[in-house]
Amino acid sequence: MEIKFKENFSLGVASAATQIEGGECDHNWNDWYQKGKIKDNSNPAIATRHYELWKQDADIMADMKIRHYRLGIEWARICPEEGRVDDSAIQHYRDELLYLKEKGIKALLTIHHFTNPMWFENKGAFERKENLKDFLSYVELVVKSFGDLVSEYITINEPNVYATNSYFFGQWPPGEKSFSKTLAVMSNMAIAHIKAYEIIHSIRKEMGLDDTKVSFANHVRVFDPENPKNIKQRIYAKLMDYLFQGAITKAMTTGNFSWPLKSALSKGAKSIKQGEYIDFIAINYYTRTSVTKFDDGTRKGSYINDLGWEIYPEGLIRCAKELYQLLERPIYITENGTCDNNDSFRSKYIYDHLKVISESKLPITRYYHWCFCDNFEWVEGESARFGLVHINYKTQERTVKNSGRFYSKMIEEQGVTEELYNEFVKPQKYHI
Ligand code: BGC
Repeated sequence: MEIKFKENFSLGVASAATQIEGGECDHNWNDWYQKGKIKDNSNPAIATRHYELWKQDADIMADMKIRHYRLGIEWARICPEEGRVDDSAIQHYRDELLYLKEKGIKALLTIHHFTNPMWFENKGAFERKENLKDFLSYVELVVKSFGDLVSEYITINEPNVYATNSYFFGQWPPGEKSFSKTLAVMSNMAIAHIKAYEIIHSIRKEMGLDDTKVSFANHVRVFDPENPKNIKQRIYAKLMDYLFQGAITKAMTTGNFSWPLKSALSKGAKSIKQGEYIDFIAINYYTRTSVTKFDDGTRKGSYINDLGWEIYPEGLIRCAKELYQLLERPIYITENGTCDNNDSFRSKYIYDHLKVISESKLPITRYYHWCFCDNFEWVEGESARFGLVHINYKTQERTVKNSGRFYSKMIEEQGVTEELYNEFVKPQKYHI
């Protein structure tokens, strides 16, 4: 029942620029909204108006005793047109980062989280290897601008999710359904990460700073056959696991590009040397896919969240073990959370995941809850709430939820006492 966190283990929260900032930036998600592709028609140009309300959000975070914050910055704001840098956007983020520092909150900065400026999207984004130079000069700019304030970076968030949703399922911009493009994007993003890893280290070194830590946020899930005795399902599960996460994880972590990414490897990429391209393992974990065919599926009779995703805490450790076997590094859970619109089982969800973490021998040192506050959940829009803090989208009023109070108390206690368990966890039930 009780949990005692390990000494070097900290709780934090995560967010992403496009999901909270709002504003009419010229990027692919505002464009996707204009094309009528958001299910509840909510507008990312509104979101939680964090670009204006960032100070208030940082204050709430500090009041909640949060000391670690994974945040993003918006490329389309910093570089609104090809070759143009908006210095006021840079100053804005510097002010925010400085304020967080003053409040004792350590930033983990995500450079790319699904969103592209339209000038980059229109030239084929990560489909084309010749576009990588644009991303890499942006990375350079980011580190030169914020390197004195930030030592920890996520180069790219969930390249596998970006590539499959945008280029295989066609549900995200640019809405393509092409296997070969999906592979090209995965390959190019892996190259982009490796080069970004080197750039970030070398620039900060030139700045005389040697505490740099870089990784990519790896969306991993368990793929299990719905029926473990069914050989076809077992083969599909293995294949999907490999195509969705196995091959790309290996490429991004070690520079070892194998089939099918190898076949998508362009000439320039041949210069990539095998090596070690992460300083910590960054895991975004939500659910398991139960495999009956070549598609996503939810295990019959399992606990589920409001989006129908299975709640399967043990999967977090199963995934973490695999990644740790590939390269032994400290582990940060850079995202974990759930869609629970009424906040009726979020505390239990968090507790169940922290329990498996605390029982594991793996060196998991951080846990960033997804998300700090409700926000623009991509094609689900405002209808899917993942936050510890409730957002009233009409008034933009922020209210700390019950789960948010639980979170603060866990930070204070460095664990879950019996009292906390009885108050926050015990009364909650998952849906089936
Ligand atoms: C993404 C977040 C998203 C969350 C919940 C992750 O895949 O990084 O941007 O909001 O999942 O769907």
